[in-house]
Amino acid sequence: MRIDWDALRAEAQRMTELAYVPYSKYPVGAAALVDDGRMLSGCNTENASYPVGLCAECGIISELAKSGGGKLVAFVCVDGRGELIMPCGRCRQLLNEHRHESLVVWTPEGRKPFEEVLPQAFGPENLAEWGQRP
Ligand code: THU
Repeated sequence: MRIDWDALRAEAQRMTELAYVPYSKYPVGAAALVDDGRMLSGCNTENASYPVGLCAECGIISELAKSGGGKLVAFVCVDGRGELIMPCGRCRQLLNEHRHESLVVWTPEGRKPFEEVLPQAFGPENLAEWGQRP
């Protein structure tokens, strides 16, 4: 599938303008492409109870489910200046759960296969080994 990385990054940047960040003042926008061509995006949404704030990636994962599921093939996130940033550790785990095997992440060091972003990830296959996968 052809990936329009510039469009993906532009959407992530647009999302930073919608971020709700009264506490950190650090807007994040994220965008992802699904294997059927849908583009999803999200912004961080903080909370007076600081630890329960939502990362931009959370919006993407929720939208993925509600818009029909599928697997992520491309992902990018940026800060309020439009600079590329790495997804936080927890969100790398979220991406792992819903990634296509070909998922590529646009990092500050270039576009990398997901396996380089979260090496040796723990994932659904670990549970499957124990017969616990639905
Ligand atoms: N943040 C994200 O939205 N995604 C990330 O991958 C990194 C961190 C947000 C969480 C918080 O609202 C702000 O950035 C500062 O940590």
